[in-house]
Amino acid sequence: MNESDELVFFVNGHKVVEKNVDPELNLLTYLRRKLGLTGTKLGCGEGGCGACTVMVSRYNSLQRKILHFAVNACLAPLCSLHRTAVTTVEGIGSTTTRLHPVQERIAKAHGSQCGFCTPGIVMSVYTLLRNNPEPTMEEIEDTLQGNLCRCTGYRAILEGYSTFAKISPRLFESSEFKPLDPTQEPIFPPELLLLHELPQNTLLFKGEHVTWIQPATLDELLILKARYPEARLVVGNTEVGIEMKLKNMLYPVILAPAHIPQLNFTRRTDTGILFGAACTLTYIGSLLKQAVDDLPSYRTEVFKAVLEQLRWFAGNQIRNVAAVGGNIMTASPISDLNPVFMASGCLLTLASKGSTRVVRMDEDFFTGYRKTVLKPQEILLSVEIPYTRKGEYFSAFKQAQRREDDIAIVNCGLRVAFKEGTDVVEELGLSYGGMGPTTVSAMKTSEQLLGKKWNEELLQEACSLLAAELTLSPSAPGGMVQFRRTLSLSFFFKFYLSVLQKLGQDFKSDFRVESIPPEYVSATELFHKDPPSAIQLFQEVPPGQAPTDVVGHPLPHLSSTKQATGEAIYCDDLPHFEKELYLALVTSSEAHAQISSIDASQALKVTGVTCFLTAEDVPGNNKIAIDDTVFAEGVVTCVGHVIGAVVADTEAHAQRAAKAVKITYNKLKPIITIQEAIAHESFHIPPKKIENGNIELGFAQADDIIEGEIHVGGQEHFYLETHCTVAVPKGEDGEMELFASTQAPSQMQLHVAKVLGVPANRIVCRVKRIGGGFGGKESHSSILLTVVAVAAYKTKRPVRCMLNRDEDMLVSGGRNPFLGRYKVGYQKNGKIVAVDLTFYCNAGRCLDLSFSIMERALFHMDNCYKIPNIRGVGYVCKTNLPANTAFRGFGGPQGMLIAECWMNDVIQKCGLPSEQVRMLNLYQEGDLTHFNQKLEELNIGKCWEECLESSSYHSRRRAVDEFNRQHRWKKRGLAIIPTKFGICFTATFMNQAGALVHIYTDGSVLLTHGGTEMGQGLHTKMVQVASKVLGIPVSQIHISETSTNTVPNSSPTAASASSDLNGMAIYNACHTLLARLQPFKLADPKGTWENWVSAAYMDRVSLSVAGFYRTPDLNYNWESNEGKPYNYFSYGVACSEVEIDCLTGDHKNLRTDIVMDVGMSLNPAVDIGQVEGAFVQGLGLFSLEQLRYSPDGVLYTRGPGAYKIPAAGDIPTQLNVSLLRESPNKKAIYSSKAVGEPPLFLSASIFFAIKDAIVAAREASGVTGLFRLDSPATPDRIRNACIDNLTKMCPPAEPGTFTPWNVEV
Ligand SMILES: Cc1cc2nc3c(=O)[nH]c(=O)nc-3n(C[C@H](O)[C@H](O)[C@H](O)COP(=O)(O)OP(=O)(O)OC[C@H]3O[C@@H](n4cnc5c(N)ncnc54)[C@H](O)[C@@H]3O)c2cc1C
Ligand code: FES
Ligand code: FES
Repeated sequence: MNESDELVFFVNGHKVVEKNVDPELNLLTYLRRKLGLTGTKLGCGEGGCGACTVMVSRYNSLQRKILHFAVNACLAPLCSLHRTAVTTVEGIGSTTTRLHPVQERIAKAHGSQCGFCTPGIVMSVYTLLRNNPEPTMEEIEDTLQGNLCRCTGYRAILEGYSTFAKISPRLFESSEFKPLDPTQEPIFPPELLLLHELPQNTLLFKGEHVTWIQPATLDELLILKARYPEARLVVGNTEVGIEMKLKNMLYPVILAPAHIPQLNFTRRTDTGILFGAACTLTYIGSLLKQAVDDLPSYRTEVFKAVLEQLRWFAGNQIRNVAAVGGNIMTASPISDLNPVFMASGCLLTLASKGSTRVVRMDEDFFTGYRKTVLKPQEILLSVEIPYTRKGEYFSAFKQAQRREDDIAIVNCGLRVAFKEGTDVVEELGLSYGGMGPTTVSAMKTSEQLLGKKWNEELLQEACSLLAAELTLSPSAPGGMVQFRRTLSLSFFFKFYLSVLQKLGQDFKSDFRVESIPPEYVSATELFHKDPPSAIQLFQEVPPGQAPTDVVGHPLPHLSSTKQATGEAIYCDDLPHFEKELYLALVTSSEAHAQISSIDASQALKVTGVTCFLTAEDVPGNNKIAIDDTVFAEGVVTCVGHVIGAVVADTEAHAQRAAKAVKITYNKLKPIITIQEAIAHESFHIPPKKIENGNIELGFAQADDIIEGEIHVGGQEHFYLETHCTVAVPKGEDGEMELFASTQAPSQMQLHVAKVLGVPANRIVCRVKRIGGGFGGKESHSSILLTVVAVAAYKTKRPVRCMLNRDEDMLVSGGRNPFLGRYKVGYQKNGKIVAVDLTFYCNAGRCLDLSFSIMERALFHMDNCYKIPNIRGVGYVCKTNLPANTAFRGFGGPQGMLIAECWMNDVIQKCGLPSEQVRMLNLYQEGDLTHFNQKLEELNIGKCWEECLESSSYHSRRRAVDEFNRQHRWKKRGLAIIPTKFGICFTATFMNQAGALVHIYTDGSVLLTHGGTEMGQGLHTKMVQVASKVLGIPVSQIHISETSTNTVPNSSPTAASASSDLNGMAIYNACHTLLARLQPFKLADPKGTWENWVSAAYMDRVSLSVAGFYRTPDLNYNWESNEGKPYNYFSYGVACSEVEIDCLTGDHKNLRTDIVMDVGMSLNPAVDIGQVEGAFVQGLGLFSLEQLRYSPDGVLYTRGPGAYKIPAAGDIPTQLNVSLLRESPNKKAIYSSKAVGEPPLFLSASIFFAIKDAIVAAREASGVTGLFRLDSPATPDRIRNACIDNLTKMCPPAEPGTFTPWNVEV
């Protein structure tokens, strides 16, 4: 064979020729490290976030055209790119030349906040437009299925891009946009077209551990497979890539068959459509769509089922590269296609050297977990998907945690064929995924039903048989056992109904078909979503406002265009320093244990390793808090506890070596859950308490008392940029410079100084921008930063580390889970007279900020209600989990959710309209809170009234009730929920800020303040403030970074207070400067800014001023429950409507109306972005995101594959945000209000709308009374709460009789 070891491809039009490519190298690493194209970001490394999206173009011989694909660069092996053209975000436009319309529109539409997701989103939409310059809105939405954004809440992104679908926006002026001109796009390199004419050589690349062979012909492939039977065939690498990265698998030989024509063809036969095994899912989808369009409907039942599964199969980027053969041969028990292929009896052609055979995919095809009947030397050549005949019906179903881009909890392919002209079952195929270690077929059930008529009797029998046949151990991997078993019946029930419906349509005149009650029909409908719509209302600046005054204008985020072009620099985008090293953490695999030994000898032998560090290497103090250290000392207290670190020349070497460190443990008993902590009285501190009124008297006055409990699950921050630090030792006086992705540079400076044993004045911590923080990069930045600093100190060389997503999720903790127990006394009219609360939060292994988080939960335990007699006691549980920490809302949302839970119970018990009872209990102007702070300028009533009206609450309530009367298996719910959020750090000393403003002699201004920019638009607002005070255009003011050597002793950028604090510090500094310039203005009234600045300079006036601000009058005394913990409160109200599928637990968010009080907005576009982003993050918290731990404290959910944050498809179809008008706030800069955290809790309206819908479902089954719904309201919780005959057939196992797969922490 003709062999070559030369890889030829193009990047942004430039030819690249690489020899000796390492098969383990992926495109993302190559682009970032070798070519310095850092616009493409690393968010997860596992194909789950889309931050790394690039466009790959190649000539496709099968289709005879150039095809453009959006691809995840993190999973694309560099070796697979021979003869392709790669386009990155840098290749389509820049701020210095010309912005591409996809870059311009996301920036101007306010669709980029932290910007870390933006290049990936830009490239997804760019690829769509290359293929289709006039897409529909649905196509735009579909194209973003594989892109996550944690900041924006997606509305602004979708709206910006809706302009390509010719839909008019509201918050920006689209007529200014550059038109899209497809003729101006870079052309496909002509050289690649010529190369395509030449025969393909065999390509061979030999790396340190892996050899990659791309055979040119089928014969060659089969010979190679015979020679290397253990070799993996790689097409999309979406499975093998994950196995190598996350499961530590190593495959020494990889065969790449994607270019072999016999694996890459399609043909219609008499019995079905044949596809080569290397055909991608996108290609298969397009061909099946075509077939559905041109063949009679009855022939394409299976094709339609495959298309339905593909609709929810991963994201675009994965479907574009993943092959059908890869899906089959991975033999995953939750493959979406295998149940369809098995139930339909697809034919598979298998080939080996010298022979081929055809097998049917049936119940014998999968022989065990990820095993099939294929012999080691065999490959899958092709798959034939069959046609169906008249009287044959097929459906496929899938239920996942999140609808888009998520693997199934349970899925299935269900087929029935009737005897001709009858409704008697002749053939039945019922194949399920998620119900065992392989795709399974319910053979017994199918056999027993043969010859039976398709009627109610069959349904009952089928369900009983399925319940008996598809059992799962209560400890089954994946958990959710009751839900999974119920789903298998629910799917059959849906199938039963849809077949009845089709029989009715097809054979009405031939025989009697049982009719479906009209209220059952919606159970058969496939998921559909109406096109998104949104309204944003805000107060425009008054007509008299000076044109130069930009405060109150919807100015786009100042970095948004750079973020859209990939020019914005994040920590890991910094060019490499001379002799830089890379660090990898070594962490505990035990939740609680004594370390018996650490053996790094094998790690030190790995190529490129410089050293291994432990606590002994810390030059200063290893202790960074009373109960925490940099490296573990003797005992580990959680899985993920940092024990040591390896430093090496490259990331790959450091990571390989870290895995080679051997640690042995003496296990100790761990405490994992809140319940266990309560049982062992394991608390970090004595309980905290707030009490007001006379609780006993209150209960005595009550007409009724109820008690209850709710668990509010934790939440992972999932900032798109993981923790990252680069430490650069300066070589003299112990100086070190740290570049970090942190919200708390001053705190980090102090930690590092202490750890290194030097004064703080030797350490500089610098932050340009961070790719999202949400509280996770406040105190917890120290976990990585201190270790990297020790490494830089020890090696005297620059050291870098950016945590992998799985490491980040493992070591860094998140939002504290809470357990709330309540006793509520109320009167018949709904007036609540007494509430007694006990909160428990799971703090994890050390206290961190959980003390203050519990305080805030107690301060917010009333939400917006005046409760005359109230007591709250909070326990901070000490467990063997990573320490939990700050997260947007900081305990407030947990306290308020518990409040709304008891409020909801009271409402349900009273049987009164919910809005009436909530309204009755709302605070009034001048009321004292339970911590005795007077509520002044209380806007909650205004927000409430406005929201009731704008949401048309009352008429929609009636419509929801009517819908529920007409539908048995779909129910709608509606809820209106208020919020009140106290603004300030509760630690009073932190309410201070500094700023430093320099005016240079050319008139330009360099602004610095203590806050970090993490997407929240802080720098933009601060420039607006400075611009207004100084009276100069925004373009003359620049913020370069946040740094501890310009503004010292800054508080973390947190508590929503950064605009208030830094804004005032800037205001002060700028006013001092103005005063200094005043004489020169007076002397030259017609002069320009530059003239005055120049004159002041010539007169030797200092043009540099440090400003300072401290929030006045803050004091609160816990002992006497008096004083003022908060400067003021932000208010808001939201009304949400949802629809649940009672059979599957799925839900869709139909509409949300928000009215938010942000005072006089400094920047309505930024504030609306914060409201929407917080709302969608809260929607994740209360209805989607679920951290799963084993009973031993091992976190299962360590990446976007297992942990689902909201995707674009999860936001309410209609999302209306209105900023409350005429609500100036005299307590903050230019009458504004804080906005970062307060709106998050409004998403509780989704949670209670779901609960409302469940109430309707239960009533339809004759079940009434209070019930417990824990947060998040996930599909399994929704389904299990919608009690019906099917759930009763799958009762849960008795707790305590088995060890569950996961526990609620
Ligand atoms: C983010 C993400 C989301 C995903 N979502 C889903 C989902 O929703 N539903 C779902 O079912 N799966 C999902 N997957 C799994 C995966 O994408 C699919 O299984 C995919 O079809 C695998 O195809 P591939 O070409 O990438 O496989 P590869 O990784 O290239 O190969 C996979 C395996 O198949 C074997 N193989 C491939 N071709 C042949 C052949 N011709 N003959 C013999 N063996 C062969 C290989 O040896 C290897 O073991 C997801 C994966 C990721 C990363
Ligand atoms: S980094 Fe590639 S998909 Fe997340
Ligand atoms: S802007 Fe999307 S992740 Fe931050």
